[in-house]
Amino acid sequence: MSIEGHVIVVTGGTSGIGEGCTRHFAELGAKVVTSSIQQETGEALEQELRDAGHDVTFIYADMTDETQVAALVERTVDMHGRIDGACSNAGVWVEGTVEEFDDEAWDLVMGVNVRGNFLFAKHLVPVFREQGEGVLVITTSTAAYVGFPAHALYCASKSALVALIRCLTKDHAGYMRCVGICPGTIDTPMLAASAEGFDQPLEELYAEVAEKIPVKRLGQPEDVARAAAFLLSDDAGFIAGSSVFLEGGTLALPPW
Ligand SMILES: NC(=O)c1ccc[n+]([C@@H]2O[C@H](COP(=O)([O-])OP(=O)(O)OC[C@H]3O[C@@H](n4cnc5c(N)ncnc54)[C@H](O)[C@@H]3O)[C@@H](O)[C@H]2O)c1
Repeated sequence: MSIEGHVIVVTGGTSGIGEGCTRHFAELGAKVVTSSIQQETGEALEQELRDAGHDVTFIYADMTDETQVAALVERTVDMHGRIDGACSNAGVWVEGTVEEFDDEAWDLVMGVNVRGNFLFAKHLVPVFREQGEGVLVITTSTAAYVGFPAHALYCASKSALVALIRCLTKDHAGYMRCVGICPGTIDTPMLAASAEGFDQPLEELYAEVAEKIPVKRLGQPEDVARAAAFLLSDDAGFIAGSSVFLEGGTLALPPW
């Protein structure tokens, strides 16, 4: 399995899972273009990884803005001549039932989680078609399959991606392989934000959650990064249109 020398774009690449992907892919010898709306963090990550001898470039791109998405793809091709793979990972999370959402929340979650993925795929397809190959890995979630309490908007956005992955697989067969990753509970800033409403200290809460997960720990960004590197590689060449679960066995548990 190797992505050495491959040109890989990671969105949401400067925090949590995406940062884990950026670091891991760089260590595997990929040429990584990492992107997000975290300008300073992105520049610092680029500098740190370049100082360590890796080929990493940060490009600011808000995935809800088509001009910026197009520029991300175009600048990567200008810089490296091609794109072998992309991890479409940028995402946002909100909590609430349908009664609690306003248009702003809808636009944010659907804008980043759904439209952002549409736009990225739209601008990657012509590149992959011209190259005759390319891999798109989209981060969805176990939330696409489970009705988490007070997660209607987030769950709906992640389910939409499962359908998008299937359609991309059919419509662009032969030159684009598209696969989903469905992480479970991964220790990232997004998870910490989701724990903010609880009275318990974070460590105590995480220990309780870990105890409920069959492998007895939370997932780490590296767990997802290692799976993503495999899915991007030719060794995963027969995996397409489906979504791979990384949830420590949570979905094997009985519902009560
Ligand atoms: N942490 C988990 O437990 C978990 C579980 C399942 C799925 N996920 C999914 O994994 C992905 C990464 O989540 P994380 O936990 O690492 O979260 P995170 O908050 O640590 O990182 C999210 C990243 O997305 C970027 N981002 C947000 N809005 C953006 C926009 N408009 N344009 C470009 N970039 C934007 C942020 O800058 C950040 O780099 C998300 O899609 C999330 O839904 C996370």
